[in-house]
Amino acid sequence: MLKNQKGINRMLIERAEKLRRELHRHDYLYYVLAEPEISDEQYDKLMRELQDIEKKYPELITPDSPTQRVGGEPTKIFPTVNHDIPMLSLSNTYSEEDIKDFDRRVKTLIAGQKYKYVCELKFDGVSLSLKYINGILSLGATRGDGVEGDDITANVRTIRSVPLRLNIRDPAFFNCEVRGEVIMNRSDFQRMNEEKELAGEKTFANPRNSVAGTLKLQDPKIVATRPIKFYAYSLFSSESALNSHYENLQILRKLGFLVDDHAKRFDDIEGVIAHWKSLEVKRDTVPFDIDGIVVKVDSLAQQETLGTIAKSPRWAIACKFTSRKAETKLNNIRLQVGRTGTITPVAELEPVFIGGTTVSRASLYNEDYIREKDIRIGDTVVVERGGDVIPKITSVVIEKRLRNSKPFSFPTKCPECDSKLVRFEEEANYFCENVECPKQIRGRIEHWAARGAMDIEGLGEAVVDQLVAHGFVHNIADLYDLYKYKEKLFELERWGEKSVQNLLDGIENSKQRPYHRVIFSLGIRHVGATVAQLIADNFNSIDKLTGASVEKIQEIHEIGPKIAESITRYFADKHNRKLIERLKKAGLKFSEEQKKKQGQLSGKTFVLTGTLSSMARDHAKALIEENGGRVASTISNNIDILIVGEDAGSKLEKAKKLGIELWDEEKFLTMIKFKKG
Ligand code: IVH
Repeated sequence: MLKNQKGINRMLIERAEKLRRELHRHDYLYYVLAEPEISDEQYDKLMRELQDIEKKYPELITPDSPTQRVGGEPTKIFPTVNHDIPMLSLSNTYSEEDIKDFDRRVKTLIAGQKYKYVCELKFDGVSLSLKYINGILSLGATRGDGVEGDDITANVRTIRSVPLRLNIRDPAFFNCEVRGEVIMNRSDFQRMNEEKELAGEKTFANPRNSVAGTLKLQDPKIVATRPIKFYAYSLFSSESALNSHYENLQILRKLGFLVDDHAKRFDDIEGVIAHWKSLEVKRDTVPFDIDGIVVKVDSLAQQETLGTIAKSPRWAIACKFTSRKAETKLNNIRLQVGRTGTITPVAELEPVFIGGTTVSRASLYNEDYIREKDIRIGDTVVVERGGDVIPKITSVVIEKRLRNSKPFSFPTKCPECDSKLVRFEEEANYFCENVECPKQIRGRIEHWAARGAMDIEGLGEAVVDQLVAHGFVHNIADLYDLYKYKEKLFELERWGEKSVQNLLDGIENSKQRPYHRVIFSLGIRHVGATVAQLIADNFNSIDKLTGASVEKIQEIHEIGPKIAESITRYFADKHNRKLIERLKKAGLKFSEEQKKKQGQLSGKTFVLTGTLSSMARDHAKALIEENGGRVASTISNNIDILIVGEDAGSKLEKAKKLGIELWDEEKFLTMIKFKKG
């Protein structure tokens, strides 16, 4: 009634509640079950509707509204909170014998009773405690020293796998505490670091550090952009009679949490040991870092009987996997020259066995990395091997340093061609600027021919070496003249008529590769496949690209100064320009295909958003191209028209801001004279 007096009608109140429920459900489907039912654009539309209602009637905002995930202002200091139940740590074991000892202790202490174990992953992340009051998230806190932690609620609210309200409205769990671990998948970590590197920001050493750094950020808006996830593994509720840890995991799942599905229950310790061993072998198939398994007595009553000693429970133990760290001697530091002239220092190590493989080399990244860690030749170093990451030196064992050791001074000359090395401002690496450097010549050709680039069958590393060594090719353009030496190629070792013909056919076929692949294959520093596609979308011919300024290239949303400068530097070089002229003459594609140049849409660049009722997106794309237009995937200043279908997403907002012309489906169909039905 009160609300009605304020002029908010019941229908609107109900609509807001319905939208909140729907958005919660879609968050759960997407972030927990990974089974979305609607498109991002449809989700955005629901979210926008709720935001609009809440903007008009702020009194309708509830703390668990999905619009409130990123509502908080930056915090300077996180308030300290007391944990009602201390957050304990686990004692670690590394051997079968230790695990059996643990089992013997359990057996003795719960004399005569039957018991079961639950095995879970030991997440290598950061632990987190969540409190729910009346089913609504009220607190997110770090472990701290186990007794007191930091209140990081504003940051925690942004984690999409943390429910802001519990899924089931069961009074038994209205007021409960949930604990678990925040992790980052290795692939997300790698992507995030690549983006940071491109933006010239400091990268994180491993996923765990990046989670820890993220949770401590003062601005929840930045936290919201980080790909972190919360896995729940403990449930406490004073209002419900909980019986078994395994059952608690199922309840947590029903409440809306992400619970890892490797959790298994065993009747005896032999089963536990076999499981531990089998997971160790499979550890890299788990998408995030784990460092072992956690074994917990299943019955909560038995857990109570077993109790805790010091800071660890007697009912649980961490069974760690073989360490992926080892100490070894650094015999030498060698410089490696990449295809773009980048110099990477590589550590030559006394071979050491780490987690199943022998490691004899590790990347040292750049001069600053060596200096920061003061890594010296002859040092004893700690080498770590992560999930699918190349081994790296994480520290030096200073106590074992030789008395006469000297800091490493970075060589000034290229190890391949003896040219002077240079280091540009803002770049972490040194470069060999000699385009004739033999290592770079081979590297550039290998990159050009590689899968995902020009994909030239039969042109692998060994063949490139051979062709360069005999002087047949010197650069990528020479490949397209190779047919002139057909007879001479027969005379080379291991070559016959058929293999020569296959190679020449492979080179000929590469002329069909699309424009964006050609850009990628040129091997311009900092231009990977994604950037190449963006460039092709925004500059539809190489002539437009070569003539573009750093500022113009930077107008592409995702491209920063580092990439833009690298591109203009590449095209400013006369060798490179000459190379491109030769490749053009050879018939490679240096512009986006335009099937019918003089169509209705000639010269215009389009982006599509939303769903068209009369045709699939690919079909619409083909029609635009047939009519002489181009289709790009992202909105930028270079776009002429945005075609707007049903449930359009953020592209529409962006296009409006940039003042881009908008066409609805009707207009599009009229323009291409396409008859519906
Ligand atoms: S249970 C006493 N379960 O390990 C119970 N902890 O050394 C302790 N951890 O701070 C929590 N995976 O960050 C539990 N499946 C799991 C775990 C796990 C990782 C971490 C957690 C805790 C530390 C204890």
